[in-house]
Amino acid sequence: MAFTQRHLLGLEGMSAEAIGAVLDSAASFKEISERDIKKVPTLRGKTVINLFYESSTRTRTSFEIAAKRLSADTINVSASGSSVSKGETLADTARNLEAMKPDALVVRHGTSGACALLARHVTCPIINAGDGCHEHPTQALLDCLTIREHLGRISGLTVAIVGDLLHSRVGRSNVHALRALGANVRLVGPPTLLPPDFASFGCELHHRLADGVRDADVIMMLRIQRERMGRNFFPSLEEYAQYFCLTEEVVRLAKPQVIILHPGPMNRGLEIASSVADGPYSLVMNQVTNGLAVRMALLYMLVARSKASGLDELEPAATPAPAAAEPARGRSGGRA
Ligand code: CP
Repeated sequence: MAFTQRHLLGLEGMSAEAIGAVLDSAASFKEISERDIKKVPTLRGKTVINLFYESSTRTRTSFEIAAKRLSADTINVSASGSSVSKGETLADTARNLEAMKPDALVVRHGTSGACALLARHVTCPIINAGDGCHEHPTQALLDCLTIREHLGRISGLTVAIVGDLLHSRVGRSNVHALRALGANVRLVGPPTLLPPDFASFGCELHHRLADGVRDADVIMMLRIQRERMGRNFFPSLEEYAQYFCLTEEVVRLAKPQVIILHPGPMNRGLEIASSVADGPYSLVMNQVTNGLAVRMALLYMLVARSKASGLDELEPAATPAPAAAEPARGRSGGRA
């Protein structure tokens, strides 16, 4: 198997083969959530702890559901209700949790590098659920799965990632994954949120929305992360929206079969118009559905290492799905 690592800390440096292995596995796991009884015994007897120091709707819920669908026991720990509020360090919290013998720690933290630090203090697998401005690997993997499912491939596509690149862990993980898989990546945003050194990722940089999305196959909008901005990066929200909000008019500059992604939570009217977010090109809800499958696949790959708890027990999903699903048939084809 191409995916052999102990932790998932980020996608930087991960090979196309390893990313492809996760996507293939995730594609096969999707079927379980379509069943009447959405549960398989793959992780029976295993324990997954979700340690979230920042708020989350999608990531935490889908990791919890993913673990439960695989029959693992799950525990949610958040900073507010834990001894973190009494001054305990991240490393001490993790060591104490590990003393209770979990099989994986899923960690979200406001500091870049927090997950890498934990991986030096504990032996169980650490899965990065978003660390500061660094990486959000499971989000990028679910984005790649969504693109591959709807356009049939990733290699050779033009993907425009638009918005607050400076603070975006989603953008960073996507750049690593999409470049590894052979996409042409354009980064689009105002100069204050898209510094020139982002070109070192091997991406085109654009400061005008129209230039960035022209003839794109995929437009990925990023949230403006006001909580990470210690100063003003643009004169006003109104002015940002005037230049960088994705409207139907702007979408018409992209390819006719363009797909639109947003990791959520969305700031409607600021980075994306409601008519686009809810429109026929939007795959935002498909991303959420795919997030569950990606997290099931990763828990399986990182936690269920023994043959006894292997894929034999999954029944129909034992073999990975083909790398490319059928291409999208039209603007409304196959979209939820
Ligand atoms: N996309 C994402 O990470 O959403 P949450 O913050 O709700 O988990």
